[in-house]
Amino acid sequence: MSSELERIKGVGKDAASKLRRAGYTTIEAVAVTPLKELMKSTGMGEEKASKIIDEARKLMGFSFLRASELYERRRRMIRCTTGCGNLDRMLGGGVETQAMTELIGDYGVGKTQICMTLSVMAQLPRDKGGLEGNVIYVDTEGTFIADRVYEIASNRGLDPEKILDGIIWARAYTSDHQCLIIDHLFKVCPEENVKLVVVDSMISHFRGEYIGREELADRQQKLNMYLHKLLRLAEAYNLAVVITNQVHTNPAQPYGNPEHPTGGHVMAHACTHRVHIRRGKKGTRVAKIIDSPYLPENKATFKITEKGVEDAEEE
Ligand SMILES: Nc1ncnc2c1ncn2[C@@H]1O[C@H](COP(=O)(O)OP(=O)(O)OP(=O)(O)O)[C@@H](O)[C@H]1O
Ligand SMILES: [Mg+2]
Repeated sequence: MSSELERIKGVGKDAASKLRRAGYTTIEAVAVTPLKELMKSTGMGEEKASKIIDEARKLMGFSFLRASELYERRRRMIRCTTGCGNLDRMLGGGVETQAMTELIGDYGVGKTQICMTLSVMAQLPRDKGGLEGNVIYVDTEGTFIADRVYEIASNRGLDPEKILDGIIWARAYTSDHQCLIIDHLFKVCPEENVKLVVVDSMISHFRGEYIGREELADRQQKLNMYLHKLLRLAEAYNLAVVITNQVHTNPAQPYGNPEHPTGGHVMAHACTHRVHIRRGKKGTRVAKIIDSPYLPENKATFKITEKGVEDAEEE
């Protein structure tokens, strides 16, 4: 049986089965894999692996693109409602496909609550603000709670069992495991009609495992690689990627907001839209766009309820 992989020039039956065994089942997956990684996982020599990656990239044709094609691609972009009007307005209509949206904030501000609500909303039909697709939830901290999603779906008048069926949960136990899952997404997303990928949290394992100063460069390099894979996934399959990130505080800072997103420049550059969330008055939460190529720095007030996240009165 000849596979999609055999469309890559230089890939015959043997090479295709080597690639498949290593978990690369699509041209996209091969195209976005760094040379060393492909060599290591398939056992191929440098010359062969490098040629295959080049040819896969040519097939993807993402090096040069006419602006008119780019415009067409952008027009296919759709937005997913968060279930909260204020947040949707702040985001220009909802969470975008072909982009990566980062939710940043201190513990308990509601990042996971937004992600769980999105996992429900993404499954709605387009005319209800959804993406009409399934969801992958990469859970690094074990904080995805099926009962809670059941509650959110029921309180929104949806069939909770159907909604839970539409969410593929992947628990990642280490950063390596998380990366492996992300690699696998290039296969699973098209097969399962996935329209929303959540990684909650993108960085906790990286922070926990790479501790010393001397390990920082390695950590950032790997983080960078996987963030770009996620972005590539969003573009290749017209799906939305939402990741969460924590903050660290700099008590020495004399003025301004002492909270800084973790992950440094690598995180800042890879994410399309960055949303900071903090606690507001009377249990509300305040979200704000802190970095985006075209969304203004708007704010949105929301609260966490039995429906997930909902509008709240402004502070
Ligand atoms: N059913 C519910 N109704 C109202 N509030 C709820 C409900 N379930 C959870 N919450 C609130 O959600 C908050 C926790 O939010 P969440 O777990 O999304 O935080 P987080 O930003 O993901 O934090 P962390 O960085 O620790 O992962 C708590 O304040 C909790 O009280
Ligand atoms: Mg959380």
